[in-house]
Amino acid sequence: MTSQPEYITLHDKRFKLFIESNRIQEIAKEVAGRISNDFAGKIPVLIITLKGATNFAVDMMKYLTIDCTIETVRAKSYGSGMVSQGSVLVSQLTGDIKDKDVVIIEDIVDTGLTAKSLIEEFSKLGPKSIKIASFLIKPEMLKTDVVIDYVGFEIPPAFVVGYGLDYAELGRNYPSVYSLAE
Ligand code: PRP
Repeated sequence: MTSQPEYITLHDKRFKLFIESNRIQEIAKEVAGRISNDFAGKIPVLIITLKGATNFAVDMMKYLTIDCTIETVRAKSYGSGMVSQGSVLVSQLTGDIKDKDVVIIEDIVDTGLTAKSLIEEFSKLGPKSIKIASFLIKPEMLKTDVVIDYVGFEIPPAFVVGYGLDYAELGRNYPSVYSLAE
């Protein structure tokens, strides 16, 4: 049972309910369980990639059974359209990650270019280890060989919004994920 609307409209586009919030919470808990096991006895730093990963990061970390610290970074693919762009700007990392175990938190891996850029940029800063968790991944869209260590949901190449993901900045505050309605 859900009180979430079946359809939402953002700007000029209509979107249909795709992943319900209850299911998202279950997955956030599952990912947190895996991270907690893998980092038992350690204190990883979670790097939340703004803006999209905030919702997943906040929910996921509620379920961690280990301590962690938090930093944020800005990763922006150029452009504001509906197709992932070619180049990525990584900026504004808020803290030092030297000798730390890093877990990058992403909302979605589409082409994988952002994830790859983040790993490349952070590797230059001398962390002890780097893992990456993504709420969503579109395996069919991957254009890089990047390995995502913790995946919430694998989804087809649909345009999705909600739960951090936006269409021209709208939609991030919805607790569920919606896909473009044809
Ligand atoms: C989105 C998303 C990922 C990236 C994924 O960020 O948050 O970081 O695109 O795409 P890729 O795998 O093709 O690189 P966006 O640039 O839309 O910024 P936002 O999180 O602030 O919305």
